[in-house]
Amino acid sequence: MVEHLAIIMDGNGRWAEARGLSRSDGHRAGARQIGVAARAAMKAGIKYLTLYAFSTENWKRPQDEVGVLMGLIQEFASSELPAMMRDGVRLRTIGRTGDLPLAARTALRYAIEKTAANDKLTINIALSYGGRAEIVDAVNKIIAEKRTDPVSEQDFISYLYAPDIPDPDLLIRTSGELRLSNFLLWELSYSEIYVTDTYWPDFNEETLQKALDSYSGRKRRFGGLNKK
Ligand code: FPP
Repeated sequence: MVEHLAIIMDGNGRWAEARGLSRSDGHRAGARQIGVAARAAMKAGIKYLTLYAFSTENWKRPQDEVGVLMGLIQEFASSELPAMMRDGVRLRTIGRTGDLPLAARTALRYAIEKTAANDKLTINIALSYGGRAEIVDAVNKIIAEKRTDPVSEQDFISYLYAPDIPDPDLLIRTSGELRLSNFLLWELSYSEIYVTDTYWPDFNEETLQKALDSYSGRKRRFGGLNKK
């Protein structure tokens, strides 16, 4: 049973290129697909959906592409709010979200507050997120506390961005690349990985079902001999 699904939404650019469209068109199509993925996830009984939307490295992309992505994030937070309220979706974010433009931050904060009590599905969007940055931010929180006693793994988790969210059971990466790209480095330690060649804007219920079928045939051992 997948309680927490994490997705690296890759391939917007290649999807657009294959159709003679601009990269921005690809990102727009990708943003639209988030609703499709969320509804499919809900139907499958998934409780947490973490989406890699913008990495700490993505700031290095051309300024106009960054602007388009920031605009889409802002638009997503406001235009999807009625649907999130209707469907019982709670919105959260992880990452150095203070780096985002004010308009995007404001729209996100509003949607996060409004949806805070919803409990059917949590959509957790990784924004200005890096797995290494998350670990470094946790270490700096510990230093700021002037804590002197040793830190256990369990303690350390409490300094991460979303300590209350369980680790992902399954990671899906779209568009064929076989790497983690600095996503959830701590949290993915024991997650199952599924890579599909499908570009993110083509991701749908069927793609998700294939990933879930693959997952259900696996034995998770968490480093031990028996299924946990
Ligand atoms: C990868 O495509 C995709 C991203 C940069 C992140 C995903 C962004 C979205 C789905 C749109 C906006 C997000 C929200 C939350 C509304 P790519 O450009 O790396 O594709 P390529 O590898 O084919 O060039």
